[in-house]
Amino acid sequence: MSRVRISSPALKKKFIYMRILTGTQCTGKLHIGNIVSTILPTVKLSEDEKNDMFVFLADLHSLTTIKNAKELEENRYYAAACWLALGLNPQKITFYRQSKMRGICELTWILNCLTPYPMLANAHAFKSKSEKLSDVNVGLFDYPVLMTADILLFQGELIPVGKDQKQHVEITRDIAKKFNDTYEEIFKLPEALIDEKIQLVPGIDGQKMSKSYNNTIDIFAEKDILHKRIMSIKTDCKKPDEPKNPEECIIFKIYQSIASDEEINDLRSKYLLGTIDYKSAKELLFETILKVFSKAREKFEQIDKGEIDNILTKGEECAQKVADETFYKIKKALLI
Ligand code: TRP
Repeated sequence: MSRVRISSPALKKKFIYMRILTGTQCTGKLHIGNIVSTILPTVKLSEDEKNDMFVFLADLHSLTTIKNAKELEENRYYAAACWLALGLNPQKITFYRQSKMRGICELTWILNCLTPYPMLANAHAFKSKSEKLSDVNVGLFDYPVLMTADILLFQGELIPVGKDQKQHVEITRDIAKKFNDTYEEIFKLPEALIDEKIQLVPGIDGQKMSKSYNNTIDIFAEKDILHKRIMSIKTDCKKPDEPKNPEECIIFKIYQSIASDEEINDLRSKYLLGTIDYKSAKELLFETILKVFSKAREKFEQIDKGEIDNILTKGEECAQKVADETFYKIKKALLI
């Protein structure tokens, strides 16, 4: 990683590596898929003092699907509690709500005017969502440009995301480059930070785990709800003592995303030898989730809304300063 000097009012540090920025939506409960692909790797990065990190709750993005203000508010608290319970330390990073930031929506409009229509029309996420959802609104179409504004307004350079967001970060680079070429060289070109070892986590029905498919596993759910959810994972009808293919099994794939290498190898050989039935594999997955996330589950219960509000309000003060600095340059470049 190259060493870059950035003045960061948020962290009052002189020398830092790069600005790392990421966000998660507030469409529902954050599930194992989000946790494994985005939250845990980001929390790990935040432990290195030299990293300058911005983490936010992408509540404006969630307006594309959630039309109930109270529900969105609850989801926002839930998402904040997830991040904090999983170890995000607000003393070390800047944590804020996207909707509280002045400039994001205005920048989205400016960037819209630099974005070729076919680039958005051909985006994978838009194409697959527009085939599945009944409400295909313009927000859904424009989603990658709002994401671009999220990243550019804060001069994000490294963007930890799941594989499914890779194309959105590429779109961000294209739009940033177009801005720089058209007006003034203001933006660094961000890069997605994707851990190739982390596979996409399937949902309980085998499709990609996603709130919109109602197939998620919420690790913070009450024990009996979590248990029921895991017991409902789809399997084929192999007999208990028949050898099974771990690579084709949803239980195994989810287990793989959270268990240790040793545990994974152990379960793999049991599958191949036919010494484990699906019900026992589900019980093992359930116990492993409780074990791996026991500290996080405990912390999650203790966090209250007042504490979340305080943390976010503080983060927003810092983040707004950074946003204002960038926005000032943008307006100057556009003579507006
Ligand atoms: N689209 C991302 C997701 O669904 C969330 C997000 C919104 C984001 N804006 C972002 C992630 C900017 C990284 C950077 O996971």
